[in-house]
Amino acid sequence: MKRIGILTGGGDAAGMNTAVRAVVRTAHGLGAETIGIRKGWRGLAEGTTMELCPRRVSGILHQGGTILQTFRYPEFATDEGTAPVAKTLEKLKLDGMIIIGGDGSFRGGTKLIKEFGLPVVGVPATIDNDIPGTDISIGFDTALNIAIDAVDKIRDTATSHGRIFVIEVMGREYGLLAAQTAIATGAEEVLLPEIPFDLDDVCRNISEGYRRGKEHAIIIVAEGAGKASYISYEIKDRLKRSVRMVVLGHVQRGGSPSGYDRILASRLGHRATEMLFEGKHGLMVGVVANKFKTSSLDKKTKAPAKSVLRDARLMEILV
Ligand code: F6P
Repeated sequence: MKRIGILTGGGDAAGMNTAVRAVVRTAHGLGAETIGIRKGWRGLAEGTTMELCPRRVSGILHQGGTILQTFRYPEFATDEGTAPVAKTLEKLKLDGMIIIGGDGSFRGGTKLIKEFGLPVVGVPATIDNDIPGTDISIGFDTALNIAIDAVDKIRDTATSHGRIFVIEVMGREYGLLAAQTAIATGAEEVLLPEIPFDLDDVCRNISEGYRRGKEHAIIIVAEGAGKASYISYEIKDRLKRSVRMVVLGHVQRGGSPSGYDRILASRLGHRATEMLFEGKHGLMVGVVANKFKTSSLDKKTKAPAKSVLRDARLMEILV
């Protein structure tokens, strides 16, 4: 292994830079140089790269986003889109590649293995935490803490006005970020894609809460379960109370990685690079029960609903 490529793909996640730093410095220690693919998958087609020496990655550990940037490139699924990638790979003469991202990026990685014979190791990074084969992905903890901080602040104004707030949390089709935000903020309700809900029941619970003396109602909505704008309109219409809504959106993706994400990204970036050198590739390295765990890159199905259901049950007991 003399030349290793690094690519960040999918939505950015706090801690991606920390992982890039870990890969570059581990590879350097093992005698290899690292080439950063700029602009993600599109950059691989366009051949946009940057040198990544240990000095170049100093001062990035704590920075949100990804210095490599991440652009989607759906054309990679087609023959026309694959041809420019082949050209770049020929030019770069890489011995291996570390891909930091989510399931879409791992599908791309699988294609690099199957069609170009390039050894690839995946590092899970997405705020959605929806990748099978790891308990947690880089960026989830930071996004969760951002959501918690926002909901805590909203609660202050909600109580002051006795209002209902509907707060939409990211997570694509997966409800884990929303479920854990709800537990950690003591929200009154959580609406998740994994569990069918009835807005009449939700309204009944809110009214009951006010009757028992509650001064506000916080409803966390996973983006995969519905739009906060629609849900808040429906609740206001039924209860004739003051309702406000907030979409947390991309705020959850930015900012400095949490301590947990910095450690996770450092560990996974380091281990993924070691794996390339050990000839263990075609794999993603994750963490299960606090131990490294590898799983096949090409068998990434849907994230299991059971973690979301477990947290939803806890939330219901504690509310
Ligand atoms: O996958 C990460 C994520 O932030 C999801 O939670 C969200 O649905 C999506 O990306 C948003 O994508 P974009 O940045 O393209 O709007």
